[in-house]
Amino acid sequence: MMRDERFAQFEVRPFTGALGAEIIGVDLRTAAEDTFAEVLRALHDYHVLAVRDQDLVPATLQQVARRFGPFSGNPVHTPMDGFEDIVRFVREPDDTGKVIGEDWHMDLAWLARPPGVTMLYGEEIPPVGGDTCFASLEKAYQSLSPRLVAILEGLTGIHSGRGVFAINAMQKRLGVTADVEAIENAAVEHPVICTHPVTGRRYVFVSSVLTHFKGMTEEESRPLIDFLMARATRPEFHCRLRWAPRTLGMWNNPFVLHTAINDYPGYRRVMYRTTIAGQVPAAAA
Ligand code: SIN
Repeated sequence: MMRDERFAQFEVRPFTGALGAEIIGVDLRTAAEDTFAEVLRALHDYHVLAVRDQDLVPATLQQVARRFGPFSGNPVHTPMDGFEDIVRFVREPDDTGKVIGEDWHMDLAWLARPPGVTMLYGEEIPPVGGDTCFASLEKAYQSLSPRLVAILEGLTGIHSGRGVFAINAMQKRLGVTADVEAIENAAVEHPVICTHPVTGRRYVFVSSVLTHFKGMTEEESRPLIDFLMARATRPEFHCRLRWAPRTLGMWNNPFVLHTAINDYPGYRRVMYRTTIAGQVPAAAA
């Protein structure tokens, strides 16, 4: 298995040629500042990390999360008692229907500042299945023709909270906030072609809640949105995170799409999720 030799303080094993890597040999609770800086560098390089063998409970997950930045806020889910920034995602063996996070999406894309990083910690993992797949919005950008990029540079996407409450409320084990109206009425503008604030690399900002482009109707916008979502989720732009108990997964939320895989009926899966504040997406110059 390939190891990325640029990282000397711990092992970094890329998942695919597109994005994602596994990290072995670091304890995020106690890592010295220079080691921690290397983890951040890996996150910006790979966008998705599975940091293995982390011994975390909600209090220490919170401490680790604060090393990455302040809490982003979460206007949708009811947090755990005593931890305003952590949500417990539970799927019981006899649960049916969609799993939380099924279908390609970006977390909270309908906020002016979508979370910069999402973290998910695996407490109980099915013996098989329950992976999370990711798709790179940078690779999607790089695959577009210059002429289409020029058109997209002139467009602003409207990302809406419409339907978000209903999707989450379907999950019987997930508490959802009572402020349905605020979520339903949320609509935010993001440029379609953006630049990553740290790497300066370009990406295409599409999400499952992108309803239309500014100045165009939903009907007019739909074919282009469908094309961009299909392009972004092509298999060559994917990686697949295979969970293990004590894995801390994290991803650069605005630069990827992700989807939870619903293939573990009969098994229990318990995860803790938290989100770190991000920035207002910046239009590419
Ligand atoms: C999510 O979409 O945030 C959850 C992903 C997962 O549970 O795998």
